[in-house]
Amino acid sequence: MSQKEATPPPPPPPPSADSNNLPPPIFTLSKSILRLIHASDAPALQRAADSPAVAKYMSYRFPSPYTIEEAEKWVGYATTFKVPGTDVLPSFAICDPVTNTPLGGIGIKLKEDIEVDSFEVGYWCGEASWGKGIMTEALRAYVKWVFETFPNVNRLEGEVFGGNDASIKVLERAGFVHEGTRRKAGVKHGVVFDIHVLGLLREECSLLE
Ligand SMILES: CC(C)(COP(=O)(O)OP(=O)(O)OC[C@H]1O[C@@H](n2cnc3c(N)ncnc32)[C@H](O)[C@@H]1OP(=O)(O)O)[C@@H](O)C(=O)NCCC(=O)NCCS
Repeated sequence: MSQKEATPPPPPPPPSADSNNLPPPIFTLSKSILRLIHASDAPALQRAADSPAVAKYMSYRFPSPYTIEEAEKWVGYATTFKVPGTDVLPSFAICDPVTNTPLGGIGIKLKEDIEVDSFEVGYWCGEASWGKGIMTEALRAYVKWVFETFPNVNRLEGEVFGGNDASIKVLERAGFVHEGTRRKAGVKHGVVFDIHVLGLLREECSLLE
């Protein structure tokens, strides 16, 4: 009698859009929920991100048009990238406090070599969410979380294209100070612009008190 071939295990279920499967809130704020990103977030992120106005002051890494493929690529990165030497996923979705649907994102970019104890913060939200204080509140919570989660980090940095005054305001409200301007340091679609550097040192961060 021939031995029956072993039945292969069933494939894992596809990621569910069921809100019960979403990662729990890391912060429940008055204007948003900050939580880890889930595979089912890609369509909402794509809808919020797909706008020339949102991309205008972002680097080429934030494309425009922002396709569903780009959103899925970013979700793949955000759900797997951990800060080296830790088990921590540092990219969060900024979500509507009622529906838990992503409105934008916030995260860090690592620096290298002698700057490894600094992170650069990056953030964005869809146009419909602008001017409501969402990012001011989200960045303050995120900055506190970063300093508390990564004890080696002694400095956070924000790099802002000239003209992006809303972003400078958001950083200043989290305690960042303008340290200097890298004149004509950026060029995007042929337009040359300054890059403002804002920094926040751990010992200056009143959010930790
Ligand atoms: C920059 C950005 C994150 C701000 O988010 P937000 O949720 O609208 O920010 P907030 O509402 O918390 O605060 C923004 C402040 O800037 C003000 N503001 C908006 N546009 C402005 C402008 N052109 N000039 C000056 N201030 C401006 C707002 O009125 C608000 O101040 P107020 O509370 O005193 O009214 C958002 O516009 C965005 O996602 N932009 C596209 C992506 C981006 O630029 N990311 C940052 C890259 S460094």
